[in-house]
Amino acid sequence: MPSQIQVLKRAWSIDALRAAARHQLPQPLFDFIDGGAEDEKTLRQNESAFDDWDLLPRPLNGAGARDLSTELLGHSLRSPILIGPTGLAGLFWPQGEIAAARAAATHGTVYCLSHGSVCTLEALAQAHQGPRWMQVFIYKDRGFTRELADRAKANGYQGLILTIDNQLIGKRERDLVNGFTIPPRFGPGQWLAFAQKFSWWWAMRRELPHITFGNYVKASSPESVAGLAGRMASLLDPAMNWSDVDALRQHWTGPLILKGVLHPDDAREAVRRGVDAVIVSNHGGRQVDGALASVRALPGVVDAVDGRIPVLLDGGIRRGSDVFKALALGAQAVLVGRPHLWGLAVAGQDGVKAVLEILHSELDRTMGLMGASSIDSIRRGHYLS
Ligand SMILES: Cc1cc2nc3c(=O)[nH]c(=O)nc-3n(C[C@H](O)[C@H](O)[C@H](O)COP(=O)(O)O)c2cc1C
Repeated sequence: MPSQIQVLKRAWSIDALRAAARHQLPQPLFDFIDGGAEDEKTLRQNESAFDDWDLLPRPLNGAGARDLSTELLGHSLRSPILIGPTGLAGLFWPQGEIAAARAAATHGTVYCLSHGSVCTLEALAQAHQGPRWMQVFIYKDRGFTRELADRAKANGYQGLILTIDNQLIGKRERDLVNGFTIPPRFGPGQWLAFAQKFSWWWAMRRELPHITFGNYVKASSPESVAGLAGRMASLLDPAMNWSDVDALRQHWTGPLILKGVLHPDDAREAVRRGVDAVIVSNHGGRQVDGALASVRALPGVVDAVDGRIPVLLDGGIRRGSDVFKALALGAQAVLVGRPHLWGLAVAGQDGVKAVLEILHSELDRTMGLMGASSIDSIRRGHYLS
C-alpha cells in the first residue's frame, strides 16, 4: 500500500485527492462527503457552471511578481481561499477538525468550524491559535444559538457564520442507501464497510466509540447517540426569518457572515440588517436539488451588494482557475468544503495543506498566465468572456 507521502506526491490535483480519498475511506463515509441531495443536479452544476465563462488572457500586463494575499474582515490572508464549515470532519481522520484548522493556520487562512464538529469548539480553540470562525444555525431553541455564539466569543472565534439553508436536512439519497445517519449510528452494514478499509479503521479505532456532535453534548447529562440525533433534528427551525438575523446581529458584536445566500434581494436585505459579509452558497448541492449553481448566482449578489460588504462564494471550487473566475465575477474570497475533507481523509493535516497548496499554486499560475498581478486586479481586469 503506498504511504501517505507517496500519495500526496502523486496528487497533482484536487481530483486526484478525491480519488485517493475514495480509496482510503469506507464507502458510506466517502459517499457522505461526496454526495448531494436527490438527483445531485445542483451538486454537478456547481462544478460545471464554471464553464459558463471563458478566460480572456492579457499576457502583456506584466505579471512577473504576483501577490495572492488579501484582507478579509480583519484577517490578512495568504490567499483568498478559506476552509468552509463541514460537519463530522473528525470521522475521517483522528481529531480531524484540529488537523484541518492547523493546516489552514500554516497556510495563512481562516478555518470555519461547523456546528456539527466532532470536537467541541472549546477543544479546537485550545489546540489551535490560528484564525477561526464558528458556524451556527437558528435553532428552535433560540437560546442554544445564543449559547453557541457566547461560547465562540469566549473562545476567541473572530467571526460567526449563520447558515440559513439548513432549516431542514436535505434528502441525501446516498446516505439513505448506505444507512448513514447524522450523527452516525454504526450498525452491522457500517462495520462491514469499515472492516474493508483497514488503514482508516486502524487509525480511527479509538475514536469511533466517541464520534458525536461535540458541541451538542451536555456534560451534565450524557445522552445516547440516538437521543442526540432526535434532539438535533428537532432543533432545526424552518420557521426562522429575518427577525432572527436581527436578534443574532444584536447579540454577536463581531463579524457576522450569512451563508447560503443565492437571491439578490436576500443579499440586499442582509446588508440592510447589518450583516458583515455574505457567502453565496447552496450548501454544496446538499439541500435544495435544482437550486442555482453558486457561481451563476454570484453576479446577481455582487450587483445587489454593490461593494458595501464582502461577497464570498463556495460550491464546486476544484481548480485555481475556478477561484480566478469567482474573483473576476466579484467574489472577495472562496471557501472549499469537500476538497479539504478529501485531503484530510488521505493524510490529515498534510492532506489539507496539500489541498490549499494545490489551489494556491494553480491560482498563482493562472494569474501569471492571465496577466493579473494582484487579487484586486483580477476584479478590475475584465478577464472573462
Ligand atoms: C460533508 C459535508 C458536511 C457539511 N456540513 C456543513 C455544516 O455543518 N454547516 C454548513 O454551513 N455547511 C456544511 N457543509 C457545506 C459546506 O460548508 C459548503 O457549503 C460546501 O461543501 C461547498 O461546496 P464544495 O464541497 O463543492 O466546496 C457541508 C458540506 C459537506 C460536503
